[in-house]
Amino acid sequence: MAFSTHKLSASIGVEIRRLDIARPLDAATVSNLRRAWQYDGAGVMLLRDQRLDRDQQRAFCALFGTIGGRAGALPTRRPRAFEGPDYNSEDMLVSNIRVDGRPIGVLPDGELWFHHDMCYAAAPNRASFLYALEVPNVGGDTMFCNMYAAYENLPQRLKAAIEGRRVLQAFDEIQDRRLDLHAIPVEDVKHAWQPMVLLHPETRRRALYVNRLMSHRIEGLSEADSDALLEELYDYTEAPGIRYTHQWRPGDLLMWDNLCSIHARTDFPAGERRLMRRVTIAGEPVVAAWNA
Ligand code: SIN
Repeated sequence: MAFSTHKLSASIGVEIRRLDIARPLDAATVSNLRRAWQYDGAGVMLLRDQRLDRDQQRAFCALFGTIGGRAGALPTRRPRAFEGPDYNSEDMLVSNIRVDGRPIGVLPDGELWFHHDMCYAAAPNRASFLYALEVPNVGGDTMFCNMYAAYENLPQRLKAAIEGRRVLQAFDEIQDRRLDLHAIPVEDVKHAWQPMVLLHPETRRRALYVNRLMSHRIEGLSEADSDALLEELYDYTEAPGIRYTHQWRPGDLLMWDNLCSIHARTDFPAGERRLMRRVTIAGEPVVAAWNA
């Protein structure tokens, strides 16, 4: 099936046009989509004006790998969707809509700092497929940055400073500040030590694996040195020149590879509804660039 590709920014993101993904796709089309996603889009791909129910979204997602599970939330933080009658552990609603005062989805309100999905898990999900059902009139944009370019743009001094090192990734549903690991023992939250630079399993390129929300501590450095180095790295991971900002329309399906991109969300008015459905592809333990 023929489709056309259009770059979304100079560094990251490709849009696919003239393709209805609710219909069955042949193997050649899937292989061309995969190439566009991984190479033209550097891991971020957009398809607009799609009409997808949950099963159609899952079927499209399954063309790219095994559907992934969820890390789960602590019982006190579980939104209503975790307990609803049609709860399905592999589907996630990202939504600020509330019923009886409780959100029906996760990551409900406002700003969300840059992160790699599930980098705090031993085997993070490889990719996320987010489908827009309802969007606010203003804000709630999702921004993506290219982590191959972030690594390549580092000066040699910073590449040498992180070579061979691991970073502690941790998360506890807080969206716009880092967890205070002086106040909460790390054992009480989802966490994993990960390489600071990974080898991408498909493109075989190096990608930076640190982010402002979930990266906490560089192994072997004092807290002050670790904080200072991470701050320096964020100037590269979040640089405007490697970024694409997506303004959502209902019917958009955006898919991103969590090994070579980070994403964040801009603030949006609390009174406006935002409803997205997320399905993921499972992943393997992350391979350090220097172990390849
Ligand atoms: C996510 O990080 O999966 C959610 C992104 C968004 O709500 O735009």
